[in-house]
Amino acid sequence: MKKISIAIDGPAGAGKSTVAKKVANELGFLYIDTGAMYRALTLKAINENIDLHDEDQLNKCLLRNPIQFEIDQHIQRVKIGTTDVTEAIRTPEITKQVSLVASHAKVRETMVELQRRLAKEGSVVMDGRDIGTNVLPNAELKIFLTASIEERAHRRYLEMTKNGYEIKLEQIVEEIELRDKKDQERTVAPLKQAKDAILIDTSQLSIEQVVDVILSLARERM
Ligand code: C5P
Repeated sequence: MKKISIAIDGPAGAGKSTVAKKVANELGFLYIDTGAMYRALTLKAINENIDLHDEDQLNKCLLRNPIQFEIDQHIQRVKIGTTDVTEAIRTPEITKQVSLVASHAKVRETMVELQRRLAKEGSVVMDGRDIGTNVLPNAELKIFLTASIEERAHRRYLEMTKNGYEIKLEQIVEEIELRDKKDQERTVAPLKQAKDAILIDTSQLSIEQVVDVILSLARERM
């Protein structure tokens, strides 16, 4: 079977990681969650009292603490250095700060190198903001996943309340809009649809429907 790469990009809350994980499972590909990598660095930097505006210190922190993905009982765990951060990187505090950390050129350079190295290991599904445009410009399949702001905020609301957070829907709308704006307006590798990416609006689709569309597009390329 031919080795292929699938790049899935899109704004916050479009369902990228849920869909990417299922597609990877179905095809037996490696799943690489690049958002988790920026989140892991953000957490480590906060714990080490690093100023999140300090590009050099952030990059040194990343070089000192390599990020790894490990599978444990079918669940993908994220580690930075020796610390398992799988759950800790999903808190609202990290979500609020991660776009600042991800805006620095040096940090992105190191991350992209790491991501490309991971992608060389075999067939991958990689999700993020700049995968189709920057990390894997030659990916065989590029998807840009989006949904209306109402739908994305609603999904995030359900996920957060399920995990015990007390939060208002309007607050989530504001946070998502702000994060998307930061990700779209940064100078280095901003969030945007690659010219050759296929746009899928998931507002009216179930997860299974989205997964099926991507699987059939992937199989055409294998
Ligand atoms: O996908 P997730 O919401 O976990 O991503 C968290 C943040 O990491 C994004 O809002 C963005 O600032 C950053 N990110 C990025 N480039 C990627 C993946 C994520 O800048 N490829």
